[in-house]
Amino acid sequence: MRVLLVGGGGREHALALGLAGDPAVEVLVAAPGNPGIAAVAEVRAVEPTDPASVAALAVEVGADLVVIGPEAPLVAGVADAVRAKGIAVFGPSAQAARLEGSKAFAKDVMTAAGVPTARAYTCEDAESVRRALAEFGAPHVVKNDGLAAGKGVVVTDDPAVAEAHAAECGRVVIEEYLAGPEVSLFVVTDGEAALPLLPAQDFKRAGDGDTGPNTGGMGAYAPLPWAPPGLVDEVMRDVVHPTLAEMRRRGTPFSGLLYVGLAITAAGPRVIEFNARFGDPETQVVLALLDTPLAGLLHAAATGTLAAHPPLRWRDGSAVTVVVAAEGYPAAPRTGDVITGAEQPGVIHAGTRRDGDGTLRSAGGRVLCATATGPDLAAARQAAYDLVAGIGLAGSQHRTDIAAAAADGRISLPA
Ligand code: AMP
Ligand code: GLY
Repeated sequence: MRVLLVGGGGREHALALGLAGDPAVEVLVAAPGNPGIAAVAEVRAVEPTDPASVAALAVEVGADLVVIGPEAPLVAGVADAVRAKGIAVFGPSAQAARLEGSKAFAKDVMTAAGVPTARAYTCEDAESVRRALAEFGAPHVVKNDGLAAGKGVVVTDDPAVAEAHAAECGRVVIEEYLAGPEVSLFVVTDGEAALPLLPAQDFKRAGDGDTGPNTGGMGAYAPLPWAPPGLVDEVMRDVVHPTLAEMRRRGTPFSGLLYVGLAITAAGPRVIEFNARFGDPETQVVLALLDTPLAGLLHAAATGTLAAHPPLRWRDGSAVTVVVAAEGYPAAPRTGDVITGAEQPGVIHAGTRRDGDGTLRSAGGRVLCATATGPDLAAARQAAYDLVAGIGLAGSQHRTDIAAAAADGRISLPA
C-alpha cells in the first residue's frame, strides 16, 4: 500500500510511526511532515489546507490511502477533493467535519440524536450572552463557535472575563459546567461500523495542578485505571452510534476518526466536544499501545469495510507522553531555539525544523512529546520524564504532573 499522510505535528509523527510499522505499507509519503517524520517517511512540501494541491500530490505519489491528520484541511474540504480523484481517504468530508468545525452544529446534532451533553445556548449579542451566563451560573463556559486550535474555550468564575471572551469571538456557545474527570475516546469509523480505541486522558491547562491557560494539550496517558467498567460500551451505545446515525440521516455520513471528549459526571458520561480527527497528544499514547497494523485499520475505515475488520489488539501496560513546550506557550511561543536530545527513541516531534546545516530548532508552541510505555502508569511516567530530562531547549516548559494523580490512585469519580 502507498500512503500519503497530511500534516506535520506530533500527532502526525505518531501516525507516521504507526503507518511505517505496518508491513502492508510499501511507501509512506508525508506532507508537509517535520524532521521527526522525515526519519520514517519521504517528506514533500504541500499547503495542507489547499484541497487541489493535496489531491494533486496524492495522484502524483500514486496513493492508495490518504490519511489526514489535522482539522483545518478536513474543514477546508481536502478529503472531498482527494475522494473526487477516486482515492481512499481516512478523514471526513467538509460537511461531516463540521462536528468539529462548528460547536453550534455539533450541539444541534447531539440534540437531534439524544446524546448526553451540557445544556447550551448559541449567542451572538451581549444581551443573550448575559442571559445565558446568568441562567447557568459559575463556573462559566464560553466557546468560540469556530475552529480555534484548542484555545477557543474559556472556563472562568468571573462573568466579566466570560463576557469579554464572548465579545471577542462574536458567535459563541455558552453552556453549563460539567464537573468530573475528562476522557478522550477515539473511534475509528467508516460511517456505520465503529471501533473504539483505548480511552486516554489529556491535560489541557498549561500549568501543574490544572492551572493557567488552556492549551492544545500538555501531556496524556492511556489506558485509564480509574475509568468505570462499561464506560466504552456505554459511550458507543449512547453517543457514537446515535451520532453516526444522525449524520447518515442528514446525508453527510461521518467517516474517519470521531474524537469524543467526555466528562464523567455524577449523572454519567457527558460529551464536552467532538473532534473530527485524532487528538494531539493523546494519539501519541494510544498508538504506542496499539498492536493492530495501523494502515490496514485506517484503510478499512476509508473503504467502508470496517465491519469485516478483526478486533483490535492492544499491548499490555501503559503509555505516557509529556509535551515539552516553547517559552511563552500558549500566548506567544518563542521559536528558533536549538534543540538537543531529540534523537532519543520515544521523542516525538511536534513543532521542529532543521536548518540547512542539520541543526534542529523549535518551530512551534508544542515542540516535542516525550513518549514512553511501561508495565504500569508509574513506570511509563518515569520513563517519559527520563526522556524529558535528556532534552535541551532554552526556556522550555513542561508539566511535572502528567499521569501523576492516576498513577497514585487519586482520581475519583463524582458520586
Ligand atoms: P473544548 O475545546 O470544547 O474541548 O474545551 C476545552 C476544555 O475546556 C475542555 O477539555 C474542558 O477542560 C473545558 N470545558 C469545555 N466545556 C466544558 C464544560 N461544559 N464543562 C466543564 N469544562 C469544560
Ligand atoms: N488534545 C486535544 C485535542 O487534540 O483537541
